Amino acid sequence: MKINIKRYNPEKNDSQYIEKYDIKHDETILNSLIEVKTKYDNSLSFRCGCKTGVCGSCAIRVNGVERLSCKTHLNENDLIEPLNNSNLIKDLIVDLRHEEKFLKESKTFLNNLSNEKIFKEDEKLIDTQSNCILCQSCFSSCPVYEVNKEFLGPYTLTRALRYVNDKKEAKPKDIIESIQNDGIWDCTLCGNCTIVCPQFIDPKTDIMNLRMKSVQNGYEDKSMQAFGGFDPSGGFDPNGF
Ligand code: SF4
Ligand code: SF4
Ligand code: FES
Repeated sequence: MKINIKRYNPEKNDSQYIEKYDIKHDETILNSLIEVKTKYDNSLSFRCGCKTGVCGSCAIRVNGVERLSCKTHLNENDLIEPLNNSNLIKDLIVDLRHEEKFLKESKTFLNNLSNEKIFKEDEKLIDTQSNCILCQSCFSSCPVYEVNKEFLGPYTLTRALRYVNDKKEAKPKDIIESIQNDGIWDCTLCGNCTIVCPQFIDPKTDIMNLRMKSVQNGYEDKSMQAFGGFDPSGGFDPNGF
């Protein structure tokens, strides 16, 4: 079986190039990468950890679509590439430091602990988003980074909803405040993030929920102010004629 891997070594190459390998393995892509590394070229670099879809470290793109390499079967002539929207370090390894930066900026953690009692129904409200494994597949698939590198991004915003909905957070409005700039209003609602999420999280819908909660808390899309913001007159100018 043939596998095509995008390679790049900053010490040797000016740009990425595609290397084709003939391998015996026809199971997961991760096992195929391990076969290439152990049998043909030990300089090949990629990330992996649990090998069971839990740690999120092995995310790559397969034929242009984000996947976990340990959970994806290899097909003939697949093209394996690193994630998008991050600085490339080597081969399939990208720099993940923006993850920490965006999570800090958006206060997506318990900031002020409340004394509320938690019941089963409350847990359900935060269950789905809590399953995020920070694989960054959604981040890689997001088109907003072509125009705004500071966009907080789908995994940060989905995590923000998790803490806004958490009864243990005493001041959810602080989190809502932190995601107004370069956040919920910059999303185009394209849905790419939802399609690629291996945990079946729906960041697009979570962002729509956060927009609704923002409006309920008195926030609005600042970009609409360029068009005059909300006009209670409905646009009628009594002096216009
Ligand atoms: S729905 Fe929004 S956050 Fe998700 S990929 Fe599209 S633009 Fe990015
Ligand atoms: S929301 Fe889904 S795709 Fe995005 S980082 Fe979390 S698990 Fe990965
Ligand atoms: S190696 Fe952990 S998710 Fe793939």
